[in-house]
Amino acid sequence: MRIIYVVGTRPNFVKTAPVIGALRERDPTGRHVIVHTGQHYDRLMSEVFLEELGVPAPDHMLEVGSGSHAAQTARTMERLEPVLADERPDLVMVPGDVNSTLAAALTAVKMGVPVAHIESGLRSFDMTMPEEVNRIVADRFAQWLFLHSPEAVTNLRHEGIAEERMHMVGNTMIDTLVALEERFRTAGTAARLGVAPGSYALVTLHRPALVDGPLLAETVAQLTALAQQMPVVFPVHPRTRKMMEGVGADHPGLLLTDPLGYLDFLSLLTDAGAVLTDSGGIQEETTYLGVPCFTLRDNTERPVTLTSGTNTLLGLDPAAIARIPVLLAERDGPPSAAPPLWDGRAAQRIADVLLATQ
Ligand code: UD1
Repeated sequence: MRIIYVVGTRPNFVKTAPVIGALRERDPTGRHVIVHTGQHYDRLMSEVFLEELGVPAPDHMLEVGSGSHAAQTARTMERLEPVLADERPDLVMVPGDVNSTLAAALTAVKMGVPVAHIESGLRSFDMTMPEEVNRIVADRFAQWLFLHSPEAVTNLRHEGIAEERMHMVGNTMIDTLVALEERFRTAGTAARLGVAPGSYALVTLHRPALVDGPLLAETVAQLTALAQQMPVVFPVHPRTRKMMEGVGADHPGLLLTDPLGYLDFLSLLTDAGAVLTDSGGIQEETTYLGVPCFTLRDNTERPVTLTSGTNTLLGLDPAAIARIPVLLAERDGPPSAAPPLWDGRAAQRIADVLLATQ
C-alpha cells in the first residue's frame, strides 16, 4: 500500500506512532510517507516527541506554523495538495481532531484519495470547540473510521455513518503508553523535580476557552491556593505561557516547567496524586493508569473516562479547583479497569483492517 500519514501536533504524534510502526512492519514493501504539517514546531512540542516515540524523520515538512484557524488550515491544504499529487497514495491517515486533521481530510477527499481517521466518533456536542468541527468533518469524509469507545458507535450512527465504515479497534494512544511503560515507570521524574510520588497535583491547561480570557488569572490564583495543601506541578503549553505573561509573573508555590517530553510527562502522570487538565488525551491516560483526573471543562467528548475511568468533570469553573482535596479524600475503592481494547494492540487491529482490503 502507499500510505501518507499526516501529523501536526503533539497528541497526533502519540496517536499515530504505533500505527506507522504496525503498518511498516506488516507491509514492508509498501510506501509509508510521513508528512509533518508543522502546526506544532517548537522542539519541545515536536522533535522531542518524535524521537522518543521512535517515529522516523518526516518525509515532508510543511512548516505551516501558528495562525488563525483559516490561515493554518488553508496553508496546510495548499502545501499538502502537491505532496498528494506527487505521491499518489492509496490512502491518507489522519489522527484526532486538530486543524491539521481537518485540513488533510479535506485536501485528500477533494483529490479523490480515501481517508482513514484514527480516534473517530468522539463528540462533545459543543460547536464552540474548534476540535468538534474538525472531528465531524474528518468523520464525514473518512472511508475508514477507527473507533476506541462504545459511545463513538452511537454518535456515528446518529449521524447516519454506514456501519461498514466503522471499525472498533481500540485506543492507539494507549498503545504508545503501553509500549513506553517500562521506561516511564523507571524515569523518576517526580524525584528530579523534588516532589514525592503520590503527593502532588499535575496540571495541564491550554484550551482557548480557559487560557485566552479572564478565567486564566482566576485559575492561577486557585492553583496558588491549592499549592498550600499539595505541591502543584504545571508544565506550561506555549499558548498558556504567552497568556500567563499577561497575568503576571509571580506564581508562588507553583512548580512551573517548560513542556515536557512524553516519558517525563507519563512518569509524572503515573506518580501524581491528582491531575487537573483540560486536555482530551490526558483524561484517557489517567483512566488507563488509575490516577484521579479532574477536568476543568463543561463537557467531555470522552464520557467513557467518567463512567468506567477515573475522570471527574469540574466544569469550566476555576473555583471548583478548591474542591479537589475534598473530592480526593472522598474517593473510595480501586478504580475500575481500562475500557475494552485499550490494551496496546489497537494499531495491529488497524493494520488487520487495512491489509484485509488488499
Ligand atoms: C492544538 C489543537 C488542540 C490540541 C493542542 C495540543 C487545534 C485547533 N488545536 O492547540 O486541539 O489539544 O494543539 O497541544 O488544532 N505555539 C508555540 N509553539 C508551538 C505550537 C504553538 O509557541 O510549537 C503557540 C503559538 O503562540 C500558537 C499557540 O501556541 O499561536 C497555539 O497553538 P495552536 O496550534 O493554534 O493551538 P494549540 O493551543 O496548540
